[in-house]
Amino acid sequence: MTTLVLPGSFDPFTLGHLDLARRAAALADEVVIAVSHNPSKAGLLSLEQRRRAIEETLQAEGLAPRVRVEDLPAGLLVDFCRRIGARAVVRGLRSQLDLSYEEPMARMNAHLAQVDTVFLLTDQSLAHISSSLVREVHALGGPVEDMLPSASVEALRRV
Ligand code: PNS
Repeated sequence: MTTLVLPGSFDPFTLGHLDLARRAAALADEVVIAVSHNPSKAGLLSLEQRRRAIEETLQAEGLAPRVRVEDLPAGLLVDFCRRIGARAVVRGLRSQLDLSYEEPMARMNAHLAQVDTVFLLTDQSLAHISSSLVREVHALGGPVEDMLPSASVEALRRV
C-alpha cells in the first residue's frame, strides 16, 4: 500500500491544494493531508475550521476516504510519516522560489529518515494562488471565491 503525505498549514485550503490532492491520489493508494499548527504563526482559521473545510471539500469532490485529513502533531514530519507508514511527502511547486524553500526541507527529510519528496508542478492556471495571498486579499476586502473550494469560502465567511 502506497501512502503519500500532503503536509501544510492550509490556512485556508485553496484550489491549488485541491488540485495537488487530486493528482497525488492518482499516484498512491491513499493520501493523508496533514494539517500543521504553528503556534508562532498568527493564523486566520483555527485548526478545527481548516480540518473541517478540507473534509467537506474531499467529500464534495469524491476524494474521501482515499484522501483523508489528519492533524500534524508538533515534531518532525518524518516521524509522522513513519507512524502512518508513508514513504514520501508531496509538495507543490509554483515557481523556482518555491523550490528554493522546499529543497533543503526535502533533503533534510531524506537524510533523517529516507522520506522522499514528490514535487508536483502547480498547474499554470493556479500558480498565482497561495494561502498567504488569499488571506491578504480577503483582509483587504477583495474577492477570493474563485481561488477556494466552497467549504473554504464558507469558513472564511464565518471568521
Ligand atoms: O504550508 P506550509 O506552511 O508551507 O507547510 C510547511 C510544513 C508543515 C510542510 C513544514 O513546516 C514542515 O515540514 N514542518 C514539520 C517540521 C519538520 O519536520 N522540520 C524539520 C525537517 S524540514
